[in-house]
Amino acid sequence: MIDLSSIVADIAAEMADAPDRGTVAGYIAPLAIIDPGRFGIAVLTAEGDCHYAGDAAVPFSIQSVSKVFGLTMALGKHGEALWRRIGREPSGSAFNSIVQLESEHGIPRNPFINAGAIVVADLLLGRSAPNEVLGEVLRFVRALAGDEAIFIDEMVAEAERASGFRNVALANYMKAFGNIDNAVDRVLGVYFHQCAIAMTCRQLAQAGAYLMLGGRNPTAGSVVSMQRARRINALMMTCGHYDGSGEFAFRVGLPAKSGVGGGILAIVPGRASIAVWSPGLNERGNSQLGTLALERLVQRTGWSVFDPPAP
Ligand code: DON
Repeated sequence: MIDLSSIVADIAAEMADAPDRGTVAGYIAPLAIIDPGRFGIAVLTAEGDCHYAGDAAVPFSIQSVSKVFGLTMALGKHGEALWRRIGREPSGSAFNSIVQLESEHGIPRNPFINAGAIVVADLLLGRSAPNEVLGEVLRFVRALAGDEAIFIDEMVAEAERASGFRNVALANYMKAFGNIDNAVDRVLGVYFHQCAIAMTCRQLAQAGAYLMLGGRNPTAGSVVSMQRARRINALMMTCGHYDGSGEFAFRVGLPAKSGVGGGILAIVPGRASIAVWSPGLNERGNSQLGTLALERLVQRTGWSVFDPPAP
């Protein structure tokens, strides 16, 4: 019998003392001042129990973790046609890299690198106004988490707008290839605000529950089909940590999506939805202690998808 409460408490205690905490994202001003001493973890089980410790109730900027929710919504609106504009292969490159776009004619490798998420934002936008779409995204995430307190941090979105020159370049470059329909500033408005959603570990674990339960949210009901949930998990496993995805699969072995705010959403299909947060990042832009915490959790629970299922 796994004693999750004590495993979660132990891991939080170990992370509190960890000396090597990584470096907070410096290129988004409000994130650069977050205390690297923070660590939170929430483990929501398929039975509906939530075990949490540390700073699990402190909101943080989910950044690229939001790409999972954006993709889920865009698939709902456009179905499989989405894959005509975005690939499904790991990039092996940094999250904000532009190099592959030239030889691949403006089609981003996958929906989780910045270029892919910008195309997703364009698809979400369709012919609507950016504010309407952001309202929809926020309502969707709030419904998934069952929590109206989730908000978009305007300061973070504004800071990205002021400094997101690479994203401006990516969007313009893809527009030159005909893979962005809307005006670039409107698309990036949606993208930056979606990345600026602030959530706690407890809210994020709840929001990810549909991916552990074959597409069904415990309170909101069916979100996506079982096939779609499986496929989103597959993309999280292969592309969710950018050029660190192989290393993450090697160490943790779970579908997971990271963000430069230091959050990671990890899914144990049929068993758990896990959110960890620690703002210090490793050299690939993924949470240093978040990864270590998940590695230890998986070692103690046998929850890697590469472990045989427990009897
Ligand atoms: O566009 C950016 O650079 C950020 N809004 C999101 C990047 C991110 O979270 C990548 N994650 N590791």
